[in-house]
Amino acid sequence: MYDKKLTDIKEWKELKIHYNEIKKHHLRELFKYDKERSKRFSVYNEDVYFDYSKNLIISKTINLLIKLANSRQLKHEIERMFNGEKINKTENRPVLHIALRNMDKKPIFIDGKDIMPEVFSVIEKMKNLSIKIRNGEWKGFSNKKIKYIVNIGIGGSDLGPKMVVKALKYYSKRSIKIFFVSNIDSNHISETLKEIEPEKTLFIIASKTFSTLETMTNANTAKNWILSHYKSKRSIPFHFIALSTNTKAAIDFGIDSKNVFEFWNWVSGRYSLTSSIGLSIMISIGFNNFIELLKGFHSMDNHFRNTPFEKNIPVIMALIGIWYNNFCEAETHAIIPYNQYLNKFPAFLQQCDMESNGKHIDKEGNEIEYQTGPIIWGEPGTNGQHAFFQLIHQGTKLIPCDFIGFVEPLNNLGDHHKKLIANFFAQTRALAFGKTREELLKEKTPLELIPFKICKGNKPTNTILIKKLTPFSLGRLIAMYEHKIFVQGVIWNIFSFDQWGVELGKTLSNKILAELEDSYNNPLKHDSSTNDLINIFNKGFPL
Ligand code: F6P
Repeated sequence: MYDKKLTDIKEWKELKIHYNEIKKHHLRELFKYDKERSKRFSVYNEDVYFDYSKNLIISKTINLLIKLANSRQLKHEIERMFNGEKINKTENRPVLHIALRNMDKKPIFIDGKDIMPEVFSVIEKMKNLSIKIRNGEWKGFSNKKIKYIVNIGIGGSDLGPKMVVKALKYYSKRSIKIFFVSNIDSNHISETLKEIEPEKTLFIIASKTFSTLETMTNANTAKNWILSHYKSKRSIPFHFIALSTNTKAAIDFGIDSKNVFEFWNWVSGRYSLTSSIGLSIMISIGFNNFIELLKGFHSMDNHFRNTPFEKNIPVIMALIGIWYNNFCEAETHAIIPYNQYLNKFPAFLQQCDMESNGKHIDKEGNEIEYQTGPIIWGEPGTNGQHAFFQLIHQGTKLIPCDFIGFVEPLNNLGDHHKKLIANFFAQTRALAFGKTREELLKEKTPLELIPFKICKGNKPTNTILIKKLTPFSLGRLIAMYEHKIFVQGVIWNIFSFDQWGVELGKTLSNKILAELEDSYNNPLKHDSSTNDLINIFNKGFPL
């Protein structure tokens, strides 16, 4: 509970004033006059090099931001999370995704009970199942080996595992094909069913609540597909397993109780990929690689918890984000991985960040008078360069970007990797330094073209350069962003682990579903736009 609004505290006001000082500077000149700038604003941590020197900051900026973090008792808040306090107040729950990868198994207590034995017993159960599937021991109802895994889930029960399965495809068992079905649109499951064979398919129903409309609709369609093939209910337990906190609902669906993989309400959906929700990942890359992934998460968790803020990567990322979001008026934040395997990373972060920090009420229940979570978006480089980069270079908006890349290639083919990395480094340089009138004149650019070719530069980027894409390094990268989001939530004084806004849409869609019948004759009581849309859907287009 704070006695002063965030915008009224002196640390905030100092940053406001400081912005007027910073906006006079250009990255060209900041680099020119500070030869140590790259060293000053970078952190090495194991296999990660985090370079934040190409940001619109000076040392004073970071000092003021750290003062701001201290004034919001960030250190204390981090400890509260790691110690299992019920920081998700509106749902009265602790937030303990860090327990899912607590590899040294040090006890973590909830209401006096150590949760670590349960966590590791589920990992053991996942291990047994994934081995059976990978070595062909698990058989379908007609005694055939499993060749296709279909994860049915949405939001956190889809985006995390999907992103990681794709990111770690290099390490995957190729004979098993993994599909993800999320959308309630019948096109999604229909197209998937066309790719697979019922006798060789295992459906994983991934749902924390086991009640989400999209997931249950797709799960029932899959169930009918299996039933119509075998004409026997006894086939269901051979082709369906569940990942859920709601064991009873999964058993009612027809899943064998021993094939319900538990997780707990202290894991939010968007932070759940290291729980049983990650089973498809384990099946894809194997148990040992999955453990490496968890170790990577754990190593970043330790870095976050134990490192002074000045050298703490997630803390610095968060503070720089706050600098742009609240003082430089940036509205969005782009994520640009220079690696095709990380194709789904921006989409994953969209949910993780925007569902967490898309809030306009503070922890005391008051309307907030400052900006909270940014719009997260992005695409892998170099594709993005030929799509939206023009706007970042020469548009009117300030768009801070994170560039993520790897020194060692996985598929070392000709000069692909060098060309990829050349583009990666060239872009952050071009964004920072731009192209001046003088440079264009020197290159003998026709005078009439000069205004169009000037790139002002001063466009900020973070560079996250990692040794190699491995399960371990991916775990570290994801945890880095999870903790960044946490830090921002602490400073904005919002609850980052609930998502009440999403619930409204869910309730309303159930009401409208009942009205989408051509025989529905009760008067519609929505607004005129919604009423007309329902009428057109029910009765057809007027002639
Ligand atoms: O979109 C809201 C949400 O509750 C997410 O937070 C969650 O990841 C998703 O729905 C799926 O929920 P469940 O795993 O319960 O099906």
